[in-house]
Amino acid sequence: MTLPRHVTIFEMGARDGLQNEDAVIATDEKVRYIDLLSETGLKWIEATSFVSPKAIPQLADATEVFARIRKAPGVRYPVLVPNLKGYERARAAGADAIAVFTAASERFTKRNINMTIDESLATFRDVVSSAKHDGCWVRGYISTAFGSPFGDGVTAQMVVDVASKLMAMGCDELSIGDTIGVGVPSQVDELVPLLAARIPLDLIAMHFHDTRGTALANVYAALLNGISKFDSSSGGLGGCPYAPGATGNVGTEDVLYMLERMGIETGVDIAKVRAASRFIAGVVDHALTSKAYQAMEAAEAAAIS
Ligand code: HMG
Ligand code: MG
Repeated sequence: MTLPRHVTIFEMGARDGLQNEDAVIATDEKVRYIDLLSETGLKWIEATSFVSPKAIPQLADATEVFARIRKAPGVRYPVLVPNLKGYERARAAGADAIAVFTAASERFTKRNINMTIDESLATFRDVVSSAKHDGCWVRGYISTAFGSPFGDGVTAQMVVDVASKLMAMGCDELSIGDTIGVGVPSQVDELVPLLAARIPLDLIAMHFHDTRGTALANVYAALLNGISKFDSSSGGLGGCPYAPGATGNVGTEDVLYMLERMGIETGVDIAKVRAASRFIAGVVDHALTSKAYQAMEAAEAAAIS
C-alpha cells in the first residue's frame, strides 16, 4: 500500500468546535479565530452553520460571522445548511460552498435534524440542485458511519447506500463521519474499499472524532486505504450536541504532526494553527485536548522556566 504524498485538511474548529461549547462566544472572537486559521495555509475552513438557532444557539450569529471574516485568497469557507431556508440564509450571507448533512443511523438523523434519512435526502436533493444551479460547491456529510449513539445498528453497506445517494444528487465531495468516536481501523479497512467501488476516492474525506482515542489510528488506516482528505479541529475542539457523549474532532495539530513526521505534505503551518488554538483556548476557557497542541505548549513552558 502506498501513502499519499499530499493530504488536504478541512478545518472544523469554527463550526464543529464552536457548536459544542457551553459558553456563548462573542461574534468578535469567532471572527478573530477564523481569521487566525486563515493565516495557517489551510485551504478549507468550515466557518459556521445556517441551521435553526433553536437547534444550535451557539452559531446563531452565522450571518454576521460569515460577513465579517476576512476571506483569504485561495481559501474556501463552506457552511452547514440543513434545508432550503438555511441555504437561502447562507447565500444571502455570501457563501459559495455549502455542506448538507445526514447520517447512516435513523435515530440519530431524527434527533439531529428531525427527519428520517429518506426525508433528509429529499430535502437535500432540492438544496443541492439549487446550489449546483447557483455554482456552489457542495459537500455531503454522512454521520454515525461507524456507530450510533442510540443503539441502532449501522453497517458499512448502509453508509455506502447513503453515500451513493448523496453523490447521485450532485455533491462534489463526501465526508464520512465517526460522530461519536467509536470507530476502529478494521472498520475503516472494511468501509473504504466498499465506498471506493462506487465513488472516486479523491472525493471522499474522513471525519473522525477522538472520543475513545482511536481517531489518529483511523486516519492512518484511511491513509493506507487511499484517503487523502481529513477533517480535523484546531486544538481538538468539537462534538455534536445531538450525539450524547460525542467529544472533539481529531486535533488538527495531531494530524499535522503525524503527517509532517511521515513526510506527507499538507501546506499547513502547525505553529500558526497552534496560535489559533491558543487564542480560542483563552476564549472557551477550558483545556484543549489535542496532544500535539499540549506537547507544544508544555515544551514552550519548560523552555521559558
Ligand atoms: P424542525 O423544528 O423540525 O424544523 O427542525 P421546522 O422546519 O419545523 O422549523 C422550526 C423553526 O426553526 C421554525 O421557526 C423555522 O423557521 C426555523 P419558528 O417558526 O419556530 O420560529 N428554521 C430555521 N431557522 C434558521 N435557519 C434554518 C432553519 N430551519 C428551520 N435553516 C432543523 C429541523 C433541521 C431545522 C433543525 O433540527 C436543525 O437546524 N438541526 C441542526 C442540528 C445541527 O446543526 N447539528 C449539528 C451539526 S451535524 C454534526 O455536527 C455532524 C458532523 O460534524 C459530522 C459528524 O461528526 O458526523 C457534520
Ligand atoms: Mg463532527
